Amino acid sequence: MNIVCIGSGYVGTVTGAAFAALGQHTTVIDIDSEKVQMINSGKSPIFEPGLDALLKHVIDRKLLNASTSYNEVSNAHIVFITVGTPAEADGTAGLKYVKEAARSIGEHLNPEHFTVIVNKSTVPVGTSDLVASIIEEASTLSNNKQFTVVSNPEFLREGYALEDVFFPDRIVIGTNHPEARTVMRKLYHDLFENINYSELSKIVAVKRNPKSPKAVYFETDAKSAEMIKYVSNAFLAIKISYINEVARLCETLGANVLDVAKGMGLDSRIGEKFLQVSSGWGGSCFPKDTSELLETSRKYGTDLTLVEAAIESNLKMHESCIIKLRRQLKTLHGKNIGILGLTFKPNTDDARHTQSSYIISKLIAMGANISAHDPKGMAMFRKLNEHLPIRYCYRAEDVAERADAIVLITHWNEYAALDWNLVHQKMRSPYLLDTRNFLVGHRLNEAGFIYEGVGI
Ligand code: UDX
Repeated sequence: MNIVCIGSGYVGTVTGAAFAALGQHTTVIDIDSEKVQMINSGKSPIFEPGLDALLKHVIDRKLLNASTSYNEVSNAHIVFITVGTPAEADGTAGLKYVKEAARSIGEHLNPEHFTVIVNKSTVPVGTSDLVASIIEEASTLSNNKQFTVVSNPEFLREGYALEDVFFPDRIVIGTNHPEARTVMRKLYHDLFENINYSELSKIVAVKRNPKSPKAVYFETDAKSAEMIKYVSNAFLAIKISYINEVARLCETLGANVLDVAKGMGLDSRIGEKFLQVSSGWGGSCFPKDTSELLETSRKYGTDLTLVEAAIESNLKMHESCIIKLRRQLKTLHGKNIGILGLTFKPNTDDARHTQSSYIISKLIAMGANISAHDPKGMAMFRKLNEHLPIRYCYRAEDVAERADAIVLITHWNEYAALDWNLVHQKMRSPYLLDTRNFLVGHRLNEAGFIYEGVGI
C-alpha cells in the first residue's frame, strides 16, 4: 500500500518510519523543509530513542521518503493526518494545522481511486466530520465521494514511542464505512500478523514483552474513537493526580507513599502503572487534552468535575515544590537554586508544558537565581522560555555551584549516576528536593544532604 503521513512531528515521524520498516511504501509530508531534509538524510527531527537508527534503515532502503509537496497524496491509499493540535488560549485544541492539512489533501485527492483519510492527531469529538467536509469542499470529487475519514488515535508515549508503535496494547479504528474498515484491517493485519520480530530487533532495540498480550484491534464509530483518546489521557492524568494527593496526605500522616502505591497496585483492578509520584504531570498531551475535554464538557453542559479537579490538583502539586523550598530556605530572594530536568519526563527532548517551566517561573518571580540542566531538553526549553533568566549548565553537577537547594524534577537515569559527594561539596547549603523519589536508596541523608522526597 502507498501511505502518506502529513506532519513530521513526534507522531508522524514515528508512524511513518514504522510503516516503512514494515514494508509499506511511505511518504512523510511536512511544510518545514528543514525537517524534510533531516528525514531524507536519515536523521530524526526529534529525539526519540531508536528513531535515528530506524530512519536511517528505511531511508537507506528507499522505503521512506519525506517531501514538502502534497503530490504523493494522489497515489496514496491511506493518508494519515499527524499534525499538532496545540491548545488555543481558551484551552480548546487548536485545529489550524488539521484544517490546513485537510484542505491540501482535498486539493490533491485522486478521483480514480478510493482514499482513506485517517486522523491520528488528537482532535475534539466530531472532527472527522469536519475534516471530511473541508476535504470535500477543497476537492473536485463532490459528486462521487471517493474518500472517507477514519479516526485512529495514537497512543504513543514519548520516550517509548517505538515500543508502542510496534507493540501497541490496542488499535482503535473509528469508522462505520465498510470499505474503510476493510482497508484498515488489511493495513494492520499485514503489519502485525506478518511482522518479522527477529528482523525488526536487528534494526531497533525494541523487544516484545513475552508477557504482553497481542494488540487488540477494536472497531467503533469515529466519535467514540476520538473520545477514547481524550478520556484515556484524562483517566491517566486523574490517576497520577490521585497518587500525588495521596503522597501529600502520606506526608501529613507519616505513611510512605512508595509502599502505599505498591500495595494499591497489587490489586489487579488498580494496577501498578501510573502510580509514580511527581511534581505533577506535564507535557504536550495531558495538559492540552485535559483542558480540551474539560472545555468541551462545559460547553455542552456535562461538566467533567473529576477532570477539573485533576487539573487543579496538578497545579497544587507544582506549587507544593515551591512551598517545600520556602519552608527550607525561608526567603527565596537571592537564593541559588539548581534544577535537574527540564523535560516533562525522561528520554525525550520535549520541553513543552513542563513542570519545570511552571516551577522555575514562580521561583524567578520570587527572586531566586536558577541554574538548570537537562540531558536532551535544554535547547527546546531555552527556545520556549527565552524570557526566563536561567543559567544553563552543560554538566549536571554544575547546577550545584554555590546552590542553596537542588530540585530534581525529571528522573533521567544519568542523575542517579551523578557523583553526589561532588555535588554536595559544591553546594552552599545541601538541601535536595527529589520530586520523583528517584534517589531513594542513595543514602543521601548519610552523605550529608538534607534530602526530601514526596510522600515518604
Ligand atoms: C501520554 C499517553 O501516555 C500516551 O498514551 C498518549 O499517546 C500521549 O500522552 P506522554 O505524554 O508521552 O504520553 O507521557 P506519559 O508517559 O503518559 O506521562 C505524562 C506525564 O505524567 C509526564 O509528565 C510523566 O512524568 C507523568 N507521570 C507519568 C507521573 O507523574 N507519574 C506516573 O506514574 C506516570
